Amino acid sequence: MHNNIFVTGDLHVGKSTLIQRVLSNLPLIKILGFKTSRFFQNKKLAGFYLEDFSRLCQDTPKAFIGRCVNDNYWVSIPETFDILGVEILQNCLKGKPDLIVMDELGFFENDAKLFQKHVFAVLASPIPVLGVLKKKRTPFLDQIRKRSDVKVFEVTRENRDRMYEQIYEEVLQLIGLGKGKNYIDAASYEKTVKEVFAPVYPVIAKQILDRTKMKSGICLDVGAGTGHLGIELTKISDFNTYLLDCSQDMLLIAEQNIERAGLQGRVHTLLGSVYRIPLNNESVDLVISRGSLYFWEQKKLALHEIYRVLAPGGMAYIGGGFGSAELKRKIYLQMQQKDQNWRKNMAQKINQTNNINYLELLKDLDLAYLEVSNSEAGMWLIMQKKQEFGVGTASN
Ligand SMILES: C[S@@+](CC[C@H](N)C(=O)[O-])C[C@H]1O[C@@H](n2cnc3c(N)ncnc32)[C@H](O)[C@@H]1O
Repeated sequence: MHNNIFVTGDLHVGKSTLIQRVLSNLPLIKILGFKTSRFFQNKKLAGFYLEDFSRLCQDTPKAFIGRCVNDNYWVSIPETFDILGVEILQNCLKGKPDLIVMDELGFFENDAKLFQKHVFAVLASPIPVLGVLKKKRTPFLDQIRKRSDVKVFEVTRENRDRMYEQIYEEVLQLIGLGKGKNYIDAASYEKTVKEVFAPVYPVIAKQILDRTKMKSGICLDVGAGTGHLGIELTKISDFNTYLLDCSQDMLLIAEQNIERAGLQGRVHTLLGSVYRIPLNNESVDLVISRGSLYFWEQKKLALHEIYRVLAPGGMAYIGGGFGSAELKRKIYLQMQQKDQNWRKNMAQKINQTNNINYLELLKDLDLAYLEVSNSEAGMWLIMQKKQEFGVGTASN
């Protein structure tokens, strides 16, 4: 499975432009990496230099990687890669961005062995890479091309618009915001919510507030879909709420629902993935999530990320269900009429998720309280992050 995308193609075909177009249309995400730029003297191409992607346009001395010394005679400067390039790549891994850019890899780095080693370390990391690869064949570039975690797209003048669409969608998918295999069509989901699920949200919202005994602060609804749980909870509390989802289409409908509920200013949408929540450490008092856990392929990563954003003493209420045995019975009947296979598909998803040993997954976290409950109301995981001083309140 590839985690890194490179664009290749003939000179001046627009490889870097295509990458810039992808980057400028991505939703706000953290991007680190490097860029190589052309240097002109007396209107003639006289060199190439390396820049840190996070410091572009800063007035720093040019770090040349290649210079034209005598009309058409080029010399490479591998030290720039081995010093500045390595430093940039090390910072990329330390900075944990959503995406690393390598624009571009070519032949000036043929002798920069240390830099090459770090390029391979970045490619092997879980952080996706979007880069440009010179078309020329060198042992270094060939080694990149044949990696199973790398996918190379060849761009031509004829295909570049089509390529842009394809690469943009692939990058979204790599950063967890694309229409992956678990993609749910937002319009039909909202239709089903309105026709069938609507009664469960006020019930679950009240259960959460009763159980956590929380009334105000910052709430985060993870995998909020079209926003109903977060909206219902905000209506009956003093929370200000973020609705986080990896689907822009879901959030567009959520925005209409926020407006309809008159909660603009108190409820906000947030495009992002549970694996990399775009909020600061310890900034959330209550995390809620219904029906999304079943889609998280990396549950440990997701739950640890939720723990990261929880404030000391903050609580999370995560799981799925319909609020009560009575609601569950009604909804199962209605859904079965709509879709014969619904019960079977649900049962499969629920069993896989409910049978996970959550105590084991969360054993490294500093929790004041942890409970996994399974009843007719659903499966809910309730956890409370330890206060810095004192003990939790959930079990009292
Ligand atoms: C079944 S819907 C539940 C929506 C809403 N919570 C509700 O109860 O109506 C699951 C939602 O989780 C979202 N989702 C799935 N994987 C996600 C991820 N990795 N990060 C953020 N949201 C995710 C989907 O886009 C979808 O909107």
